[in-house]
Amino acid sequence: MRSAETAILRELIAAGNGFVSGNRIAAFLRVSRVAVWSHMERLREAGFSLEAKPRAGYRIISKPTGLYLPLLRAHMPAWRDELPIFCHEEIDSTNSDAERRMAAGEPTPFVILARRQTAGRGRLGRVWFSADEGNLYVTFAFRPMLSLARMRSFTLWVGASICRLLNEVHAMPARLKWPNDLLIDGCKVGGILTEARIDSDRIRDLILGIGINVNGAPSSWPEEITAVATSMAGFSGRLVDLNEFAACLIDHLFTAYESFVGGRFRADFDALWRRYDALRGRDVSATHGNTVIEGRAGGIDEEGRLRVTTASGEVVCLSAGDVTLRKDAIA
Ligand code: BTN
Repeated sequence: MRSAETAILRELIAAGNGFVSGNRIAAFLRVSRVAVWSHMERLREAGFSLEAKPRAGYRIISKPTGLYLPLLRAHMPAWRDELPIFCHEEIDSTNSDAERRMAAGEPTPFVILARRQTAGRGRLGRVWFSADEGNLYVTFAFRPMLSLARMRSFTLWVGASICRLLNEVHAMPARLKWPNDLLIDGCKVGGILTEARIDSDRIRDLILGIGINVNGAPSSWPEEITAVATSMAGFSGRLVDLNEFAACLIDHLFTAYESFVGGRFRADFDALWRRYDALRGRDVSATHGNTVIEGRAGGIDEEGRLRVTTASGEVVCLSAGDVTLRKDAIA
């Protein structure tokens, strides 16, 4: 599934500021110099600025800032080249697209990305603002065939794994607000929407949708979002390489998924949860049906439910599906 463009970009990226000769590219692609030239033209059309120097070769001056699949793949390890990745200019929702493809029998795993979504959705039927092309909208499709009980902490594990990536690789102080909100500095930087089709107590189709505000400009978002959300670039003041970030996230997520289904995640999960839990020790107010539960958050139980100790000392365990935390649950 690797394209000639991906192979060329891997070489150019590895060379950094240096040049890669046309002969070398022609040799590893097993094509003529004329064919190399036409691949370079294609890269230019995709938004690359390339310097071509006689007797030295080619080098990258600048890369496109929007999602470009051959560049994204060039940033992924070569052994993931066979992973099917579909990249849309615009789609209703990457989760809906995954659902349609799975219903039509598309083999898993696969990944769907979009530059924009017209009907992006979040948890509890909310709209996920998806008009900003600087952000990441991505869905992973799996068929784990594991019991519901085995999959219970999956979304929490994914959230904790993304926090690790943002903290350790991107030096962003990201935290996870149970059950699926990714926060930086108390503002929402991303969210996770897991949807599943279940057959006789087994998860047949698992759809994992992740939205991350990467380079979006919060000032251009609708007012109600700007008030509570941020982006990685908005927080740090530096633009993030979207293709490199998406590649790194996809690779990281596959490793996290494999360790989850292989049952090897537990020890890491407990440590990551303690490190990145945004609610621990905070006063929270949760709505469960018609009841409002107020108390102090104290981590999660072994089923991934949020433990809340009320003023009377009672410990209540809340399931993600039933509960909404008040917006001001974290300041
Ligand atoms: C939430 O915080 O409520 C979850 C938001 C999840 C948004 C992502 S964007 C990619 C994928 N496609 C969707 O329609 N939703 C998820």
